[in-house]
Amino acid sequence: MRNSRILSVGHYVPPKVVTNNDLTVYMETSDDWIRERTGIQERRYSEDSVGAADMGALAAREALERAGVDATDIDCVIFATLSPDVDMPASACVMQARLGIGGILAFDVKNQCSGFLYSLAIANVFIKTGRFDHVLVVGSEVHSTGIDLSTRGRDVAVIFGDAAGAVVLAPEDNPQRGILSTHLYAEGQYAEKLWLECAASRERPRITEDMITSAEGRIFPRMSGRYVFKHAITRFSEVIHEALDTHGYALSDLSLLIPHQANLRISQMVAMGLELPEEKMFNNIERYGNTTAASIPLALYEVLEAGRLRENDLLCLAAFGAGFTWASALIRW
Ligand code: ACO
Repeated sequence: MRNSRILSVGHYVPPKVVTNNDLTVYMETSDDWIRERTGIQERRYSEDSVGAADMGALAAREALERAGVDATDIDCVIFATLSPDVDMPASACVMQARLGIGGILAFDVKNQCSGFLYSLAIANVFIKTGRFDHVLVVGSEVHSTGIDLSTRGRDVAVIFGDAAGAVVLAPEDNPQRGILSTHLYAEGQYAEKLWLECAASRERPRITEDMITSAEGRIFPRMSGRYVFKHAITRFSEVIHEALDTHGYALSDLSLLIPHQANLRISQMVAMGLELPEEKMFNNIERYGNTTAASIPLALYEVLEAGRLRENDLLCLAAFGAGFTWASALIRW
């Protein structure tokens, strides 16, 4: 069976930069607190009704151009997001129209911070089995319109930012190259540890005045921060080890780890636990915050721009997020 490989990467970040100091206008926080706990210095916020599909389309166009692949040659679109433009239809369909590539398979994967790796895994299977030749995988998020920018929501709000990343996948005939394996997990018993409760299909009506004005902020994402922190470190480490063990590799064989940019402290603790040298892990959360499904393709884009990935390098992508969900992919570049 053939492999698949990432042919190219594209990205889009909105021009509006929001520094930690900018956030002090809305909430009681400080640059020191945010930097110390998360490593984040600034993030981007979308403006002027620019949604996840708009940003995804821009990232996708760049990826297509870099791959030298015409949009009409794409067989399938997978769109990872927890912040879709509208409740229905899927942002994949909205973006598909922007790209002018109708009449092909397009769907969303709503799996939070692990959404991009889940999507990559699905695309990989489509290509490996010969079902498709070119799959476009996009991760795009607009958090800025959905977070609680008051002091009540500060533990979550300071973490997130808006961005998009996209990759084009194509067949790879060399079985030693491309995506070697993917590893996906979820544990739903922790769903309420990091969640956005309302609007909810189990409520009648789905959205009420009470939900909007509730003291606990039911219409905003809420998180048990320390709980998430501890689980993230354990699961990241497990799923990175699993990816390497599957192929008989040791950590010393790894050229680069790109973790989902959850929180710089989480990444640092994972690296410390793995005894991974600093230069073997890439982080850019300082400049973008946590962009959930967009964070890995955005980081991969910057890694390539910086020339930090060469042919034949062994790359591990890993993620952990709400659900809880976690995932990894091992790639021979
Ligand atoms: N600014 C200033 N003070 C704050 C802020 C803020 N933005 N947020 C919370 N605080 C206050 C709290 O109110 C609390 O005050 P109190 O002691 O008077 O009650 C104090 O800071 C400590 O709060 P904790 O929640 O205990 O702070 P902690 O040290 O745990 O840090 C944080 C909070 C950064 C959220 C941490 O728990 C964390 O990093 N968790 C991981 C979560 C994460 O990274 N999620 C990313 C999204 S999910 C994912 O992608 C995996």
